[in-house]
Amino acid sequence: MASELTRTLFCMFLRNLFRSAVITALISLAAASGQEPKLINGYEPKWWKEAVVYQIYPRSFKDSNGDGIGDLPGITSKLDYLQKLGVNVIWLSPHFDSPNADNGYDIRDYRKVMTEFGTMADFDTLLAGIKERHMRLIIDLVVNHTSDENKWFVESRKSKDNPYRDFYIWRPGHTAPDGTRTPPNNYPSYFSGSAWTLDPTTNEYYLHYFAAKQPDLNWADPKVREEVFSLMRFWLDKGVSGFRMDVIPLISKPTGMPDLTAEQLKNPPNAYANGPHLAEYLHEMNREVLSRYDDMSVGEATGTTLAQTSNLVDDRRHELNMIFNFDAIKLGRSDFGLSQLGPWSLPELKAIYDEHATVLTKHDWDTVFLSNHDNPRIVSTFGDDSPGMRVPSAKLFETLILTLRGTPFLYEGDELGMTDFPFKTLADYDDIAVKNAYKALVDTGKISASTFLASQAKVSRDNARTPMQWDSTAEAGFTTGTHPWLAVNPNYKEINAAQENSDPASVLNYVRALIALRARSLAFVYGDFDDLDPQHPHVFAYTRTLGKEKYLVVENFGSAALDYVLPNGLKAGHLVLSDMPGSRQSQVSTLHLAPWESRIYQQ
Ligand code: GLC
Ligand code: CA
Repeated sequence: MASELTRTLFCMFLRNLFRSAVITALISLAAASGQEPKLINGYEPKWWKEAVVYQIYPRSFKDSNGDGIGDLPGITSKLDYLQKLGVNVIWLSPHFDSPNADNGYDIRDYRKVMTEFGTMADFDTLLAGIKERHMRLIIDLVVNHTSDENKWFVESRKSKDNPYRDFYIWRPGHTAPDGTRTPPNNYPSYFSGSAWTLDPTTNEYYLHYFAAKQPDLNWADPKVREEVFSLMRFWLDKGVSGFRMDVIPLISKPTGMPDLTAEQLKNPPNAYANGPHLAEYLHEMNREVLSRYDDMSVGEATGTTLAQTSNLVDDRRHELNMIFNFDAIKLGRSDFGLSQLGPWSLPELKAIYDEHATVLTKHDWDTVFLSNHDNPRIVSTFGDDSPGMRVPSAKLFETLILTLRGTPFLYEGDELGMTDFPFKTLADYDDIAVKNAYKALVDTGKISASTFLASQAKVSRDNARTPMQWDSTAEAGFTTGTHPWLAVNPNYKEINAAQENSDPASVLNYVRALIALRARSLAFVYGDFDDLDPQHPHVFAYTRTLGKEKYLVVENFGSAALDYVLPNGLKAGHLVLSDMPGSRQSQVSTLHLAPWESRIYQQ
């Protein structure tokens, strides 16, 4: 059984490789002969549209030297695992030199590897290993801000006439008659408190949308843009295939930076994002860098609505390829301040994807994701992580992500159905967002410690950052040491890659089969999406259609079994994938669905 699966997967892999090679060859032929590339269902074919992306948070993936911190050689040692999973692109969260105020999202030196993660030689080995396996690597571009230990900021804060002064955003702020200083405006930081810090050396405030140790760069200074483009070229010339761009809509600051109104204070990212010069900066970045390589770009679009998406990704604008829109992942939650997990309904979730399908055009390209290093685990947030339901509900969400329209992004551990961590006390957390919020809310008496900790346990980013669960040995095989930087989830004995590899009914083997199925048909990539039953409270049923090829996906969102009658007298078709070994119903119009069951039919 296992060897048959391996053989089938291998054949699919070869077929997919061959197909991509043919498509690429056709496109270059067309380009060489001056013709427009052939469109598929109105879309221009691109490798990044056909890819499945897998995000690695290096600190948590695999530790190779026992210091308790994941590292680059650790990732290299797991490349066969990723290849077998079938993903094509790896997105590596920041691997650069950093004092780790925000786990690498505060960069001290953009051209150096973080000491804990290894050396540049380790990076080169990792990249070579990825390429040998016909995968690609994209890296995190964090250029809205740097670390305060970056040499640009070290210089900038020295004096008002330092050549680097304008690399950052400095303002005198206000001085009351009694000498009391207050910040230039009322901007709050994503990580609690004011977004301004007074720096004693020059007695001026600098702007930091995130932590005080993450000063915002001043993109209005052309020298800043030139430095950023140069570091991008440095990594592209090494052979990386593009970037995930951290909070990129924040790089152009609001004109004049007036106080936010009471209304704007309810959702500051909307006021911070998409400033007046964003399009100009991204266009310049595309012209100077991105357009010169065979790369992909995906922007983390904080504060950006669906309606604004085209402004960033329409391919006629030559800016970014894709963005992450947070409507689905933040369903029932806010993406600023103290986020709480509120109630949500399936029709609301479906409405988000339905709207994407109508608002985005054939010149735009979407992403699909429900997790990353900033959000809790999918199965605990959207599914049901209780013992009998964890496996089917994890499979359902992987089905959703891998069959909706857009490039799918998987986060490490989702393929195992990893769950949230049983956080209890403040000391269990590492995240600066949690620590700062505790100071701002609990220490000031605004809310009680127990309310705060109960809500954080459900939404904290640290839920996603606990170490990967590789096997049932101590510390889940993540480290040979005894002190992982963040505790391993105590459920690792049941939930781990080694166990799932040998269990044919595991989430892992299901995700492998799903990715292989997706690789078999471009209908899952370029096919139209139709929601058959937007109002149904428990079932999501949709089709993906490309010419004569049509797939029907049916998912039961809930812990109760139900009989689902397909709308409009539709017959299910031929079952091509199901997460329940028992279900073999084909060509029927009433489906007996088990709790959290998902099925894919070919019609
Ligand atoms: C993005 C990152 C997050 C980080 C923040 C500041 O939202 O995904 O992890 O804290 O930017 O860089
Ligand atoms: Ca290590």
